[in-house]
Amino acid sequence: MVARAAWALAEAGIEAPRAEAELLAAYVLDVPRGRLALADGFTAAQLDRFHTLLDRRIAREPLQHLTGTAGFRRLELSVGPGVFVPRPETELLAGWGVEQGRRRSHPLVVDLCSGSGAIALSVAQELPGARVVAVERSPAALDWLRRNAADRAAAGDTPIEVVAADVTDPELLAELVGRVDVLLCNPPYVPRSVVVSPDVAGHDPDEAVFGGVDGLAVIRPVIARAAELLRPGGLLGIEHDDTHGTAVPGLLSADGRFEAVEDHPDLTDRPRFATASHRADGQRPAAGTAWQTGSS
Ligand SMILES: C[S@@+](CC[C@H](N)C(=O)[O-])C[C@H]1O[C@@H](n2cnc3c(N)ncnc32)[C@H](O)[C@@H]1O
Repeated sequence: MVARAAWALAEAGIEAPRAEAELLAAYVLDVPRGRLALADGFTAAQLDRFHTLLDRRIAREPLQHLTGTAGFRRLELSVGPGVFVPRPETELLAGWGVEQGRRRSHPLVVDLCSGSGAIALSVAQELPGARVVAVERSPAALDWLRRNAADRAAAGDTPIEVVAADVTDPELLAELVGRVDVLLCNPPYVPRSVVVSPDVAGHDPDEAVFGGVDGLAVIRPVIARAAELLRPGGLLGIEHDDTHGTAVPGLLSADGRFEAVEDHPDLTDRPRFATASHRADGQRPAAGTAWQTGSS
């Protein structure tokens, strides 16, 4: 059954057909994927269910919507219609944030554009001493975020704070100005003209995917606000489109309030997130001073 399902998924253009067929079968049989070979096989009802889910996947419903969960670092998050499905490449940005946060015993970490809470909840789980603030605007995404936050808190992780707000608001999180140790953001960043895959087009909310005409419409105000929110020496990590490996570091350098600007590749070696440190004096250098540092 799994082999046949994998063949059908491959015919439908699914990129990892065998893995997805196994994950669907494991979900229907309610066993971990690694124990699939030991399972007894489908009952008639399970087989019906398997075929129904297979048809929906062939119609390009995301696997994570079918199973209702998405794995992210050490978490299993609830996802479904109205929220962006967290991606493996974002695990790297979250991991970078965790590593930077470790330098302090009680870091203040902010996750802008939080979606399901993947980044914020990973930081809260991996850095129990952190205060984590997650900001999201979409009411539908906020429902998923609050549900995941409540589930993780019930499981014993440090509770996060959820703020419903627009990250492009110049007054965002005014009470935290100059205090944030690590600010992370996976914003909508795909340029409007890009044709995305059917899984994305039909199921990830547009406002989670597209970042205006050039893909930088949310990134620009986020960089400006990060420069206000971060303490001197505080750190910013921001995910971007793979065509923006020069543009986003360029925006960070051009702001003048960041140094040690670097870009980082994802697991497929494509440019994926930029990081920078808020200048120790927190100020833009005086006119005429050279201030573009370390961009790679
Ligand atoms: C690419 S998704 C990232 C979600 C999550 N951080 C992750 O990595 O899976 C971008 C998120 O930003 C939210 N968003 C878009 N524009 C926003 C804005 N102006 N203010 C707050 N959230 C926004 C979307 O609703 C979406 O949940």
